[in-house]
Amino acid sequence: MVRYSESLIDEIKASNDIVDIISQYVILKRSGRNFLGLCPFHKEKSPSFSVSPDKQIFHCFGCGIGGDAITFICKIENVNYKEAIEILAEKAGIPLPTLDSGRSTKIEILKQKVYEINDIVANFYHQNLYTQTAKKAQEYVKKRKLDNKTLKKFMIGYANGGNEVYRLLKEKGFSDEEILASNLVKKTTFGYNDVYRERLMFPIQDVKNRYIAFGGRTLEPDGKPKYINSPEGMVYTKGRNLYAMNIAKSANMKNIIIVEGYMDAVSLHQRGIPNAVASLGTALTEAQARLLRKYSEKVVISYDSDAAGQAATMRGLEILTNVGCDVRILQMEGAKDPDEYVIKYGNGRFNLLVDKAISLIEFKTKILKNTLDLSNVSDKIKFLKETAQLLTTVNSKIEQELYIDKIASEYNISKEALYAEINKISNKRVTTKILEKRPTTVIKKENVEKKLIEREKAIIALLIQEKEKIYEQIKNEISVNDFKSEINKKILKKLYEEYEKGNSNINSILNFFVEDEEVMSRLTEVMSEEYQIKNDDKTIKNVINTYKIEKLDSRKMELIEKQQMPGLSKEEEKNIIEEINKIIIAKKLIK
Ligand code: UTP
Ligand code: MN
Repeated sequence: MVRYSESLIDEIKASNDIVDIISQYVILKRSGRNFLGLCPFHKEKSPSFSVSPDKQIFHCFGCGIGGDAITFICKIENVNYKEAIEILAEKAGIPLPTLDSGRSTKIEILKQKVYEINDIVANFYHQNLYTQTAKKAQEYVKKRKLDNKTLKKFMIGYANGGNEVYRLLKEKGFSDEEILASNLVKKTTFGYNDVYRERLMFPIQDVKNRYIAFGGRTLEPDGKPKYINSPEGMVYTKGRNLYAMNIAKSANMKNIIIVEGYMDAVSLHQRGIPNAVASLGTALTEAQARLLRKYSEKVVISYDSDAAGQAATMRGLEILTNVGCDVRILQMEGAKDPDEYVIKYGNGRFNLLVDKAISLIEFKTKILKNTLDLSNVSDKIKFLKETAQLLTTVNSKIEQELYIDKIASEYNISKEALYAEINKISNKRVTTKILEKRPTTVIKKENVEKKLIEREKAIIALLIQEKEKIYEQIKNEISVNDFKSEINKKILKKLYEEYEKGNSNINSILNFFVEDEEVMSRLTEVMSEEYQIKNDDKTIKNVINTYKIEKLDSRKMELIEKQQMPGLSKEEEKNIIEEINKIIIAKKLIK
């Protein structure tokens, strides 16, 4: 990745206060030294998203996401690290140098060339659709009922084949390297060949209206592959964009409708439904979900009605809910996909389906019902029990009541019975919780490990807080491999390395982990208020000693488990006992 210099990044961070930045997206309220708000990255009802002005970091105690101002911009604006820096530099009015190392400018120039090529070729394909040679394509779009306005709006076009694109680009003076980088032409043993032949072309634009990729559909009824899509390249990363988002984003929308196919999106737009976007073939990704969330909190999934579409709906639901969208599922009958539906029944009826789109709970209830026969008593009981289970996952009582009413009347079951089942489950939950508290060896082992990992976090927190005072001491007592958690290990390793070099600026250390979300999240967690540790010698010593004891306990637990395994040799058994004894002595020596 092309990078700006460390010092420039620090300057940009210093000129952008994280509270100001985040306030532009989240309502923050002061709470002690920090600010609190509702996390924009997951759905929550009470605030667990904390922003620290002192440390210039954010951390969500609900979903674990965390980082600095740059990471925040990356996530919320759905841009990469470099673009986030550019956004922040602009906000602060800091001019940015053109990235100068020979290699980076070359990449930038090549990227610009690819955008230029894509633009030229999109226009070329589109114009080509109206020429003599495109007879078959013209018939095809007519058959699919696409009008000229739509063809133009989406720049739908036709790729003839031959090597027209290669010739055109050469004529325009592009080099072979630039042409190949566009992925519109490939090099074979016979020379340079156009990738798309006799295909209807859908250019894909990003939200800045730049042409970033293409999808080409076969004109043959059973042609294979149905679509050929651009591979990832200089300007295209799969899973970061949504087809038609550039157009939908300027529509005045109360929700966004996500569909599977190019054709579905185009067809809905043509029929006056401008808030439809398509997920571009792959399963919906988290980046796409965040992009959707950026433009609308309400999302309606309208995938194909076949089994694959339904499975994709389930996955999409989960991802969208996780990023904080209010998701509804459109239920379609009488057509295989939205395109067929609007053509058959018109946009009025499609809009009705949008209004009637159901929630996650209702969707799951419906799927459950389809696997059962409700006229059969035992199936009906099963339905009642599982529905009740689902309903207990609803957070708000009011919402729960609404669902109960709806489900009871729709599936003809008694409300009282549903309430009774729900109560049974809630009561049971309380008792299991009590039972879980009873110590058994299995639980104890887990607890010991958990505690150990918590203690490791405390040590990292201490190291960050009190670097000068304790670095030497901790380094002498604890090595990276002593740590149990892989994430903690990575952090400790980096801290040691940087401290050794004399760099104790934790914010610059954070920068090393921009691509490692887990580590970033762990770091912001230990930097947060909750990990503030008193910095007197006694507390420090205490933390280290407790850690050592817990470490020994954890090892002891492992040994005891091993001891109980069948088929141990006398020798092995002896070794285990010896080690346990050593641990007991070692524990006594710690004080
Ligand atoms: P569909 O097969 O539903 O395509 O695949 P469609 O766009 O609705 O086209 P029609 O209506 O059948 O003509 C949904 C999406 O999956 C991707 C494309 O993005 C397509 O729009 N896909 C499908 C591929 O990338 N490759 C394929 O071979 C098939
Ligand atoms: Mn389709």
